[in-house]
Amino acid sequence: MSYDSASAQVDASLKLTGLDYIDLMLLHAPYGGSEARNGAWKALVEAQEKGKVRSIGVSNYGVAHLDELEAYIKTLEKERGGEGKGGKIDVGQWEVHPWLPRRDIVDWCEKRGVVVEAYCPIVRGKKMDDPVLLPLIKKHGKTGAQVLIRWSLQKGFVPLPKSETPSRIVENAGVYDFELDPEDMKALELDIYEPCAWDPTVAALDQ
Ligand SMILES: NC(=O)c1ccc[n+]([C@@H]2O[C@H](COP(=O)([O-])OP(=O)(O)OC[C@H]3O[C@@H](n4cnc5c(N)ncnc54)[C@H](OP(=O)(O)O)[C@@H]3O)[C@@H](O)[C@H]2O)c1
Repeated sequence: MSYDSASAQVDASLKLTGLDYIDLMLLHAPYGGSEARNGAWKALVEAQEKGKVRSIGVSNYGVAHLDELEAYIKTLEKERGGEGKGGKIDVGQWEVHPWLPRRDIVDWCEKRGVVVEAYCPIVRGKKMDDPVLLPLIKKHGKTGAQVLIRWSLQKGFVPLPKSETPSRIVENAGVYDFELDPEDMKALELDIYEPCAWDPTVAALDQ
């Protein structure tokens, strides 16, 4: 995380892929301290202005990191000569599913029009027998993965399920022929903090 390494990474990614531009580039995690985070952000803003990257954003930032970035965007605007010159957080990516709803972060994003990408939307397959999920699987005649991906879509997120299994890839795409009812969505409103990956959102600002 620094201005130099983020600038270099954009160019390295273009070279590696052979693409003319990258659709979306995210800062993976907030570790490194304020100066490093701000510098990396500035590098993404410049890359976007040069047309190397279309959209920019962050991943695994907690609300404190997001607030810090929002303040830095205002500073950068002043430094670089006006509105928009500090960049805009187009997309944020977090582990989000019913067992990790991240209401504070989602609320922050919704108020500012930041698109939320939800990683581990099917909880790495670990909740398929959960008593909260089983009645919904039965009611809709869909699999647990399909119910969870549908939940994510209906919350307004962009779910990012991953599978190396062709039949599961097809299964995970079969989510547009049913809808969860309001009471189903309510049943999946859990007050649980259970990450299945890592959780850098809780890192201190100087970490
Ligand atoms: N920004 C970050 O820090 C971060 C962190 C973690 C993940 N991610 C990204 O988020 C994406 C998804 O995350 P993830 O792979 O950790 O979690 P996930 O999508 O919730 O779960 C993937 C796991 O579930 C299995 N699976 C897939 N479809 C299934 C189905 N229909 N039924 C049962 N099991 C199924 C997969 O097995 P098979 O592959 O064997 O089918 C794999 O083991 C990845 O592309 C990853 O790059 C980002």
